[in-house]
Amino acid sequence: MRQLKLAVLISGSGTNLQALIDACANPDYPAKISLVISNKENASGLGRAKEVGIQTLVIRHTDFNKRDEFDKSLTDALESAKVELICLAGFMRILGPVFVNHWHDRLVNIHPSLLPAFKGLHTHKRALEAGVRIAGCTVHYVRTEVDVGPIVAQAAVPIMPDDTEHRLAERVLQQEHQLYPFAVELIARGQARVDGARVQITGTEPSGIAALISPQVTKAE
Ligand code: GAR
Repeated sequence: MRQLKLAVLISGSGTNLQALIDACANPDYPAKISLVISNKENASGLGRAKEVGIQTLVIRHTDFNKRDEFDKSLTDALESAKVELICLAGFMRILGPVFVNHWHDRLVNIHPSLLPAFKGLHTHKRALEAGVRIAGCTVHYVRTEVDVGPIVAQAAVPIMPDDTEHRLAERVLQQEHQLYPFAVELIARGQARVDGARVQITGTEPSGIAALISPQVTKAE
């Protein structure tokens, strides 16, 4: 079976990386991780990759004077590893337009909100302040504008009346761990095709749906 060659870019704990590692451990999964890159040498996620023998690389953004030089160094490493799809997983550096355009439709990100709501940072705090009832996460193709791009898949998470930012973040993160492998699988199987600003999904039942809905909130007695 053909397996799409992935790179995962991280800056932190790498729990989404772990979810992808776990998915790729299944021989029927249509992708494998060839390279993990962190811009921070102390990112604990690096250990997750090393543990299972995946090649890791640290490219410190602080070693470069210009963003483009950092981005070029990333591209060189990704091309040497013959990477076909880059997954940003808690990678907390903004990538410049040269990089993003070079990897057009080969670069995806996971964001902890239901985009286009709550782009940027502190998504859970802002969702709670706004009083929305449903939070969630999104896997999307990356475009030059931050947290904008064709949406591959989303998962919805109910907001509880007594939620704190931390509790909500944990609940959303659990869904991220389901969603990212699901979205990458759709891409790897050729079932998610970019069509302008949208992604057309084929071959899933019910047709066209690329969403995971977390379990229903049980009604208070
Ligand atoms: C995840 O919640 C991810 O959605 C978020 O960072 C966390 C990384 O966790 N990404 C962003 O906020 C990107 N703007 P992880 O390192 O445990 O996967």
